[in-house]
Amino acid sequence: MMSLKIGIIGVGVRGASLSFLINKYFKKQLKIVALCDLIEEKCNKVKKEINDNKINIYKNAKSLVNNEKLDGLIITSHTDQHFKHAKLAAEKKIKSILDKPISVSLKDAKGIVELEKRNKFQFLMSFTRRYETSWIKAWNLIYNKKLIGDVYLIKLNSIVPYTRYFQTWHRYNKFSGGGINDKCSHHVDVLRWFANSEVVSLSSFGSRHSHFTSKKNKNIRCKDCYEKCNYRRYDALGDARENLKKFKNNYSSLNDKRQIDDHCVWADGSDILSHFTCNFDFENEVIGNINFSCFGPASEDQETLEVVGIKGKLKLIRSTGIIELTYDNGKKFKRIDAKDNYHQTSHFGADIRLLKSYINYLKNGKSEVSAENGIKSLKIIDMINKSIAKKGKLIENKIKKY
Ligand SMILES: NC(=O)c1ccc[n+]([C@@H]2O[C@H](COP(=O)([O-])OP(=O)(O)OC[C@H]3O[C@@H](n4cnc5c(N)ncnc54)[C@H](O)[C@@H]3O)[C@@H](O)[C@H]2O)c1
Repeated sequence: MMSLKIGIIGVGVRGASLSFLINKYFKKQLKIVALCDLIEEKCNKVKKEINDNKINIYKNAKSLVNNEKLDGLIITSHTDQHFKHAKLAAEKKIKSILDKPISVSLKDAKGIVELEKRNKFQFLMSFTRRYETSWIKAWNLIYNKKLIGDVYLIKLNSIVPYTRYFQTWHRYNKFSGGGINDKCSHHVDVLRWFANSEVVSLSSFGSRHSHFTSKKNKNIRCKDCYEKCNYRRYDALGDARENLKKFKNNYSSLNDKRQIDDHCVWADGSDILSHFTCNFDFENEVIGNINFSCFGPASEDQETLEVVGIKGKLKLIRSTGIIELTYDNGKKFKRIDAKDNYHQTSHFGADIRLLKSYINYLKNGKSEVSAENGIKSLKIIDMINKSIAKKGKLIENKIKKY
């Protein structure tokens, strides 16, 4: 079989990481023929690393789409750029991975769902937990094996060492929607998935801890600072462990706030929150809760999902892939090692599965996770932000269809 020709728009941390995975695991099925980034050097670096002289490089996404004959695209540009790139793909019906979150604004998200409908075509959204073996096994234990009976309570805790959110383009709500959108679009999607239902109303409190109140000039960057600091970009444990050094931004001479990735965490200008908690009421009587916080930087990624049903309960620890299952009305207990052989790869193996799902979708056009899921998640993020702004006000989900 001929390999499928693909292009990538946005060759930063995520785009580069998916390129390396394709090169390592899917060379026979997928061929990267074109890369596009505002910073050409980022493309050159990836091209060199995967050692393929024939890859064409573009600074402009429209030129890439117009000049290349593509079977597929991967859109991993900044979140506020997703609509623009999704439009290019949809108009030519190029099947595309559209990375999460779908967008920053609901207007863009609606535009993307509209593109799907108008062009009778679907994107494949990469909500990674939907592709993670341990999460899929947990869902199967609950809904196929029915081991805990009817679900009525779901709790997700995510305490992540992502203080880099204060240092990169994520630090501005207009580019990313902050950690609430960037990270919790996953969590909200997980709650919908595990509740098997839609949110009716929610109430949320959130804040930016005073520890992160701006106290430095907005231009101060790690590269120009010699203070001893726990948050020094790329030395922080979270970044080092995720091997982000490999993707280190060498373009530190750039003075564009979209591109700088080593802002001081106390540099002026950031408007994102550091933590929040939210309670959810679902259509089918399930009650849910998410607690999210950036914590660190020197800590493990800590994410747990707990689901309680009328006959049992399940706890999933994401980083270890261990499921603790209490069932048979509490009489039985099992500890299940639910991780797969790829657990050590990015997103605990999810990206390998995502790429497998992408190959199937390129062949048969069926998307496992369409933009419809993206907008449902963003709608809830929008409600969370509204509730936080009104100190926990109950916000109802009035929109059922998009
Ligand atoms: N599925 C996941 O779990 C997951 C994980 C990480 C990132 N992401 C998503 O991937 C996207 C990228 O995140 P990242 O961490 O790689 O950021 P990044 O800054 O490292 O990379 C994004 C790249 O897009 C480029 N870009 C921005 N606008 C562009 C445009 N108009 N044309 C061409 N290139 C453009 C930037 O120059 C940058 O190199 C975000 O939407 C993020 O939420 C998803």
